[in-house]
Parts: sequence; C-alpha cells; structure tokens
Amino acid sequence: MSKVEARFYFRNRAITRWILPALAVATFARAPLAQAQTAPRPETVIKWRQSAFQVIAWNAGRIKSALAANDINETRTAATALAALAGSGLAALFPPGTAQGKGWRDTTARAEIFSDPEKFRALTEQFADETAELARVASGSDPKAASEQFAKVAKTCKSCHDKYRQTD
Ligand code: HEC
Repeated sequence: MSKVEARFYFRNRAITRWILPALAVATFARAPLAQAQTAPRPETVIKWRQSAFQVIAWNAGRIKSALAANDINETRTAATALAALAGSGLAALFPPGTAQGKGWRDTTARAEIFSDPEKFRALTEQFADETAELARVASGSDPKAASEQFAKVAKTCKSCHDKYRQTD
C-alpha cells in the first residue's frame, strides 16, 4: 500500500468505523429534543382552533349575506374558503392535553371531545362533506340550491356546538 493509498484507506475506515456511527447516534439522540421543540404548546393549539373557527364564522357570514343579495360569485368565493377550512383536518386541533386551557380565551371545548375523539372526528368529517358539497353547488348558478345546501351546513355547526361546545 502506498503512502497515499494508506492515508485514503485509513480515512475511509475512520468514516465507516467512527464518523458514521457517531452521526447516527447524534441523530437519534436529537430526535426527542426535536420532537419537544416542534410539539406546539396547548395554548398555541387552542389559539389555532379558535382562530380557525373565527375564520369559519367569517365565511359562513359572508355566504349568508351573499345569498341574501343573490350574489353567486361571492357565495362561491366564501364557500370555497369554508370548504378548505372544514376539510383541513380540524380534529387534529383537539389533541389530548388541550381539553382545558386558554387560547385567545378559555377553551369552550367539552370534555366529550377528548373522551370519545372518534365520534367528534366523524362530525368534523360530516362538516367537511357538507361544505364541499356547498362549494360544488355554488360553482353552478343556482342560488336556490346553494341556499338549501347552506342550511345543511349551518345545521352541522349547530349540532356540533350543541354536543361539543360549552355555551354557558
Ligand atoms: C365538529 C364540530 C364543530 C363544527 C362542525 C363547528 N364548530 Fe364551531 N366550535 C366547535 C368547538 C369545539 C369550539 C370551541 C373551540 C375552543 O374554544 O377551543 C367552536 C368554537 C366556535 C367559535 C368560537 C371561536 C372562539 O373564538 O373561541 C365560533 C365563532 C364557531 N365555532 C363558529 C362555527 C360556525 C359558524 C360553524 C359552521 C359553519 C362551526 N363553528 C362548526 C366545534 C364545531
């Protein structure tokens, strides 16, 4: 083995024997730390979901006024935004550990969301389906059909709030 070859050989051996394993250890050792850093704080998650519902309420209100004004273009714009929000996986904004706490204000989420998350998820999915249907109907030019579908959407807001949101 020439001198240069020997140096190359030892360098490669050093890479496989020491440097790569050290990197692997370092990567695994960092994983819990990285997770701790990326898991949002409960207050943050509660803020996100309260904000999401505020923007949902904004768009539901826009649709109501647009339908009253017979404005199908505005209805379509707001229905598209509403469907995107409803279909964004809202159930993920109710992780364990956020049953109580303060976001922009004290959470009004009920304990039942966290004790039976699957049922709650089903309602969020129904909400996504009804709003997607509204966006579809609103892309046509039949305001009556859009009004009827909007009534169904409003019903999903109410039935979820009745069951899962503290109103008192
Ligand atoms: C699948 C259940 C569900 C559906 C569907 C739903 N909501 Fe809610 N909503 C909640 C829950 C739970 C909260 C309480 C969130 C919190 O305080 O942590 C909430 C909170 C709100 C808030 C208050 C947000 C704040 O600032 O505290 C508004 C406004 C709202 N919803 C409007 C609506 C409207 C309008 C619709 C329908 C277009 C709707 N929601 C559909 C479950 C739902």
